[in-house]
Amino acid sequence: MFQKGETVLLTGSKNFLITLDGEMKKVKGLGIVDSERILHLEEGEEITIGSERFRVYTPSLEDLLENMKRGPQIIGLKDASLIISLCSLRADNIVIEGGSGSGFLTTMLANAVFPGGKVISYDRNETHQRIAEGNVRSAGLTDVVEFRIGNLGEDYEGETDAFVMDIPEPWTALPHAKRVLKSGGHLCVYVPTVNQLEKIVREMREAGFWHVKALELLSREMVVHSGGVRPDFQMLGHTGYIIHGRGP
Ligand SMILES: C[S@@+](CC[C@H](N)C(=O)[O-])C[C@H]1O[C@@H](n2cnc3c(N)ncnc32)[C@H](O)[C@@H]1O
Repeated sequence: MFQKGETVLLTGSKNFLITLDGEMKKVKGLGIVDSERILHLEEGEEITIGSERFRVYTPSLEDLLENMKRGPQIIGLKDASLIISLCSLRADNIVIEGGSGSGFLTTMLANAVFPGGKVISYDRNETHQRIAEGNVRSAGLTDVVEFRIGNLGEDYEGETDAFVMDIPEPWTALPHAKRVLKSGGHLCVYVPTVNQLEKIVREMREAGFWHVKALELLSREMVVHSGGVRPDFQMLGHTGYIIHGRGP
């Protein structure tokens, strides 16, 4: 059975996320739903709402992220996944991250270090960080995230396993990354332009980071019909570049 307060995915011809507070809920595109009825169901059970049948599941991270409130430009699933892999994150790691922005990357990082690790997420804009906090809360990951207002990493004391930056001028936070990263710790930077990529790679090398490399990840969805299988005509051509290096 699902727990009161939990968010579930209703999947049918369309997907809907519903938080189960036991009340009647007005769901856009679906109508009025009695969330008390869903509370008594098991994972994967069917429910009929109006004339449509749905299955009820615990939402995946992708489902939650798709429905998150947006503020500043987010890091998408593909780039966040690569950052997590390059940083080799494990469930006991300490990660410094910023700017929190809309909290997309924060949520992905928190999910990777849950339940034993910690993400310390910085933003110097309080309004942005409130959005990030709300999104982390709706993903149920509040316990592994500490939000701080201020310049990325500036007031942090202690050692970290990874330092992840999505700020317009990442070189300004490089001295803090160097100071707090364990030797061999992972620095990952996300930037949208080649100019930023060139500057941060040069500065990382000058600061003594090793094994510095820059990557771009392209992802293309496949359309699968009984008459044929082909790549989707629509494709997100550019998101950003990821630069990774190991601490001196
Ligand atoms: C593009 S957004 C980050 C989006 C976030 N990674 C996500 O996936 O939702 C960049 C954020 O960095 C913040 N920022 C810019 N420079 C900063 C700095 N030096 N320290 C902390 N935050 C900074 C901005 O206020 C903004 O909220």
